[in-house]
Amino acid sequence: MCGIVGIVGVEPVSERLVEALKRLEYRGYDSAGVATIHDGRLDRRRAEGKLVNLDIRLRGEPLPGTIGIAHTRWATHGAPTENNAHPHFTDGVAVVHNGIIENFSEIKDELIADGATFATQTDTEVVAQLLAKLIREGMDEREAMRAMLKRVTGAYALAVMFRERPDMIMAARSGPPLAVGHGRGEMFLGSDAIALSPFTNEITYLVDGDWAILTPAGVEILGHDGHPVKRQRQVSHAAAYMVDKGNHRHFMEKEIYEQPEVISHALGHYVDFLDGRVSLPDSAIDFSAIPSLAISACGTAYLAGLIGKYWFERYARLPVEIDVASEFRYREIPLSPKAAALFISQSGETADTLASLRYCKDLGLKIGAVVNVRESSIAREADAVFPILAGPEIGVASTKAFTCQLGVLAALAVGAGRARGTISAEEEKALVRHLIEMPRIMSQVLNAIQPVMETLSRDLSKCRDVLYLGRGTSFPLAMEGALKLKEISYIHAEGYAAGELKHGPIALIDENMPVIVIAPHDRFFEKTISNMQEVAARGGRIIFITDEAGAAASKLETMATIVLPNVDELIAPMIYSIPIQLLAYHTAVFMGTDVDQPRNLAKSVTVE
Ligand code: G6P
Repeated sequence: MCGIVGIVGVEPVSERLVEALKRLEYRGYDSAGVATIHDGRLDRRRAEGKLVNLDIRLRGEPLPGTIGIAHTRWATHGAPTENNAHPHFTDGVAVVHNGIIENFSEIKDELIADGATFATQTDTEVVAQLLAKLIREGMDEREAMRAMLKRVTGAYALAVMFRERPDMIMAARSGPPLAVGHGRGEMFLGSDAIALSPFTNEITYLVDGDWAILTPAGVEILGHDGHPVKRQRQVSHAAAYMVDKGNHRHFMEKEIYEQPEVISHALGHYVDFLDGRVSLPDSAIDFSAIPSLAISACGTAYLAGLIGKYWFERYARLPVEIDVASEFRYREIPLSPKAAALFISQSGETADTLASLRYCKDLGLKIGAVVNVRESSIAREADAVFPILAGPEIGVASTKAFTCQLGVLAALAVGAGRARGTISAEEEKALVRHLIEMPRIMSQVLNAIQPVMETLSRDLSKCRDVLYLGRGTSFPLAMEGALKLKEISYIHAEGYAAGELKHGPIALIDENMPVIVIAPHDRFFEKTISNMQEVAARGGRIIFITDEAGAAASKLETMATIVLPNVDELIAPMIYSIPIQLLAYHTAVFMGTDVDQPRNLAKSVTVE
């Protein structure tokens, strides 16, 4: 996720920049760095690991200057070394960045062909190199910034300084949040208002597509087209260490929109992007040697595990025993000590999951933990830890933790398949390629379907019951869709295997109960269509979530058809999570419920 800050003013900045970074450390702590301009010199200090290392370095080698930018990193492209740490410098241009420049490799090739040499493996360096080139070609800083922003695609919050302009910081936002803080004779920039809370509580949030020029006298905000735009200045009530919603109405909305970024970060830890291979960060479980795998978890994490079961069985031919932790721990399942067990938990503290872990540990199984909180009890008691790297999830209804759990389980299943020889190197490469392109497709889907999901939610908010159907990995996803809807909108919803429709739920079908069918054009499509026919024949109203091929193949009349891009079966559950999350979210917003803290629920469940 990365955190960025900037100060342009009259007092020395480096200590204050580090103080601001401390409040952003929840966004990542792979490395950190500060740059300032002083006496016509652009200088920086950077350090690997947590901020404390940068602090120590700065105490040994102070950095004077009344203008500066700083960064705390959550690595996506390039290892978390000091060399890859931000700020990045090229010919008097300094850049810090949060996000991913998607077309960096194309721009990099062009710049290299033009004679540039790159010092880092980051995507960010192309921004500094491109700006430096445009300035060498005669543009002023403002023109160069505008031209650079036109050229880059992807998600970014950027702060830029120019050695020749020690009175100015430029910023830009496309995706990740960016807040401008108003001081007296000084201006501030930060990834959130908490970072700036020691200096000012007067904040202007940049909107997607905005860029800005900060000087000690104030800020000029420009829209995508380069024309000045007005953005509201507001008083922030951000307190230190409170995570911020930015421009979003709810943490849940923010977390839904963060998914492409966080999942790409998570995959970066499991997938070698260059070789097209899975490389697992922990080797304590030898997947080639185990006869079977047990999986246990609660709530949304359990449903992620259920999707994982399909993958481990299909790609690694590994039999999987899975149950909700509250049952698993008491079932006295006879498990082989040669087997391994995976426990999936966002918080890493869920009591039932921890108890199941201890049951398996006592039987002598190797224990793996798929967790978000690396310091948690479940992680501490495991032999192998597989972090999902989703960043803090505040909304009680899990969204980004779910898709990151899926991303990690998909990588583990492919890695296990390779280790067991059940998939070839070519198959692994193809699957890894699908995983790599997933964040981009997710982002595309998020932008494309939002308005239609909002409209549809208005209808859904009037219903009392909703049925979700799916086959294959779309079956657990149907259960997750139903869980999300009931958790936050309090509408009764059930997720069913589409094939089970005729064994019970079909009795409920009438014009008052929408049936949400999740059916990509996969191996099961024809069968699911038959089940849809059964619903339609009884006057049921169908919301059909499919892909382009599925929409073209189905002739059925629906209440709505949501068309997603055609994607490989491996990544479909992550992509199809987006519409079900948005549907639940907007329905709850229409109903006026407390979306982030729904009644009777809690984020971390440490009781049985
Ligand atoms: C609670 C939360 C869910 C979560 C479940 C398991 O019910 O509301 O969102 O899926 O606990 O939590 P864990 O931290 O173990 O993933």
